[in-house]
Amino acid sequence: MKRHTFALGGAGLMLGISLIAAQAQTVAPTTPPAPPQFDAQQTPTFVGIADILEFKALPEYHEPDYVRAFVDAGKLPPVAERLPKEPLVYKTGNMPDGTGVYGDVIRHVIGGRPEGWNYSAGQTQGWGGIDIGLSECLTRTGPLFQVKAEELAPLPNLAKSWEWSEDGHELTMHLIEGAKWSDGDPFDAEDIMFYWNDVLIDPQVTPLNGASPETFGEGTTLEQVDAYTIKWTFKEVRPTQYLYSMAYGNFCPGPSHILKAEHPAYKDGATYDQFKNAFPPEYLNMPTMGGWAPVEYRADDIIVLRRNPYYWKVDENGNQLPYLDEMQYRLSTWADRDVQAVAGSGDLSNLEQPESFVEALRRSAEDSAPARLAFGARTISYSIYPNLSANGWGEPDARGQAVRELNRNLDFRKAISYALDRQSLGEALVRGPFTSPYAGGLMVPTSYYDDASTVYYPYSLEDAKALLEQAGLVDTDGNGFVNFPADVQGGADVEITMLSTIDYQTDKSLAEGVIAQMERLGLRVISQSQAGNQRDANEQAGKFDWTLRRNDSELITVVQNTQNLAPTGPQISRGHRAGTDGTQDLLPFEQEMVDTVNAFVGTADPAERIELMKTYQHLFTENVYGIGLTQYPGALIINKRFANVPAGTPILQFNWAEDGLIRERLYVPEDAQTTNELHPDTLPGAPGKGNGPIASN
Ligand code: GLA
Repeated sequence: MKRHTFALGGAGLMLGISLIAAQAQTVAPTTPPAPPQFDAQQTPTFVGIADILEFKALPEYHEPDYVRAFVDAGKLPPVAERLPKEPLVYKTGNMPDGTGVYGDVIRHVIGGRPEGWNYSAGQTQGWGGIDIGLSECLTRTGPLFQVKAEELAPLPNLAKSWEWSEDGHELTMHLIEGAKWSDGDPFDAEDIMFYWNDVLIDPQVTPLNGASPETFGEGTTLEQVDAYTIKWTFKEVRPTQYLYSMAYGNFCPGPSHILKAEHPAYKDGATYDQFKNAFPPEYLNMPTMGGWAPVEYRADDIIVLRRNPYYWKVDENGNQLPYLDEMQYRLSTWADRDVQAVAGSGDLSNLEQPESFVEALRRSAEDSAPARLAFGARTISYSIYPNLSANGWGEPDARGQAVRELNRNLDFRKAISYALDRQSLGEALVRGPFTSPYAGGLMVPTSYYDDASTVYYPYSLEDAKALLEQAGLVDTDGNGFVNFPADVQGGADVEITMLSTIDYQTDKSLAEGVIAQMERLGLRVISQSQAGNQRDANEQAGKFDWTLRRNDSELITVVQNTQNLAPTGPQISRGHRAGTDGTQDLLPFEQEMVDTVNAFVGTADPAERIELMKTYQHLFTENVYGIGLTQYPGALIINKRFANVPAGTPILQFNWAEDGLIRERLYVPEDAQTTNELHPDTLPGAPGKGNGPIASN
C-alpha cells in the first residue's frame, strides 16, 4: 500500500502540509489504531476432524425410555430402523464431559419473531439459533473454531463424504444413506435436487440467508447420480471454497415431500407468495433434519421444540442424540436474552450488545451466578453500506437516484469516513477495552488480516468538509446542510435515508451516533429504523440509500462464503446487486475486488492467497466499499448446569455459537436436571396447522 509519511506527524506539521496541499487534506490516510489488548478468556483444544466425528454402524442403539414407549405402543419403528445405515457418530474423546444422559431442556430467548417455517422461501423463524437447530446442511462449519489450521475444512454432515474428479471440475458427494425427516419420510437426493432446482435456481425463491446459484460459483451445475449421490460441476478447478458455502445457511434443504405440494412448479395455480406463506408459525411439526422439531407456538410468547425421534446422529455408545429432550424459544427482546441468561431464567446468550457488558460481567463474577460468561475475540463489527447501484436496483426515485450517484463518488465516501469519530461511537456503547475503531473490510481476528494493507481515514471534520465540497456539495441556502448542485434535484438539501434495525439497542445507538456526526458534517441523514424482518426485506430488495448493519462472518473467516466478500454475482452483495436489466454496473475498483475474490477461490496456494487478501483489503478500505464503524468482542453466556460446552466457543466465527456449541451433544447431568420441560414425554406429531406434540399412550 501507499505509505503516507505524514500520517503520524504532529498537528503543527500537518497544518503546514495543508497550506501547501492542492486539496485541503490535512490528515492523510493511515493504518487503523491498534485495538486495545483484550485476550479471549478461553481457548479451544485444537483437534482434527476425525477426532470429532465419523460415520459408522454401531452394534446397538439406545433411546430415552419415554421414546421407547412409543415403539412399544406401535407408534414408532424401533430405533435401529429409524437411524441411517451409518449414523454420524460423535467421538467421546472430543466431548468435553464425555457421554451424556437424556433429559431436560435448553431455554433460549430471542428478539426476533417467526414469519413461518418456509426457510427455503426466505421466512425467518426469529433467529437466535432456532433455524440453525432445525436445519441440517450438506456440510457444517460452526464447530470449526476447534479444528487445527492445517486440517481446516468443512465437516461432513448430510454429505458424509466426497471426492474430486482428476481434472478438479467435478465433485461427487455421497449423502447419508437411510436417514429420515422428523416425520419418518426418507431423506435423499430428491430433497437436494428440489432445493437446487426449485429454490436456488428459481429466481422467484430466495432462501433465508440469501443464497443464490452464484454462491457456488458462476456456471456451476448440480445433478443427481442416484438416490444418495449428487455431482457438482464447476468452471473452476478444485474450488474447495464452495464446500464452506454448502454449510449453514446456504445449502440446508427443506422437506421436499412437504414443500413440493405447495410450490408453483408442482401445484396448478399456486403463486410464489402462497408458497412462501403456506407454513405459518401455527403449522406445527414441520419436518426437520435437525435435532428438534417445533410442536407449539404462541404469538409473542413461546415456541417449543421436542426431540426429533429420527435424528441421525449418535454417540459412541449408540445413544441417539440429542441428549436434551426439549428446546424452548421465548419470544422477547435481544436485551432480555442477556438479562435472563445472567439471571438463570434463560440458558444461553451471545452477549453482543456492549450496552449490557458491564452489568453482565458484574453479575457473572458473583459466586452464586447461575451462568458462566467467557469473552472471545473481537469478531463483532458494524458498517454502513452505501447502495452502489445506479442502474435501478430497488427502483429508486429521482432523489434516491441522485444519492446513488453520490454514493458512487469516492470523495463522497471518503468524506463520510473522515467525518466519523469512531472512538466516540464505540465509547458511547461501552467504556473500557472493548470497542475499537473499524476501518471496514477484513477483521483483525482472521489470519488474512494485514494492518499495512488497511487504509484508515482518521477522524477529521476539516478533511471531510473539503471532500464534500470536492464532490460538489455545498450549503448554498445556509441552513447547515449541504445542497445538491443547482442542476441536481433543483439544488435541494441532500437527504439520505439510513436503514437499520430497532431490534438491537446497539444498532439504535450506532444509528443515532452516525446521524449526529453526519449533522456536524452538514449532511442530513434520516433514520429508517425498522423491525429486523422488515429491514432485511428492504435490504434484500435494494430499497435503501445506506444500510447500517452488523457484519457477517465472511469478514472473519474469509474461507467461508468467500463469494460474499465482493459483488461476485447478481444477487450476492449487500450493497450492490444487479439493476432492473439484470446487469451489475460495477465501479472499476469493485470489478477488481471481484477479480481478486475469484482468484482467491481459484487457487489453493497459501502464499498467493495471502497476497490476494492483502489486495482485497486495500481495494476495500482505500475505496471505502463499506464504511467501517466499530469492532468489539462478545461473550458466550451459558447456564452452569450444561455439560459438553466446548472451551473457547466463539459467539461468532464460522457460524454463531448456537452451531459452534454442537447443541445435540449438550447435556445436563442427572443431579442438575430441572423440571422445566413444558411437554415432557411427548414427541412431534403429524405436520399440520393446529397439530401439536403427541404422547405414547
Ligand atoms: C441473532 C442474534 C445472534 C445469534 C443469531 C443466530 O442474529 O443476534 O446472537 O443468536 O441470531 O442466527
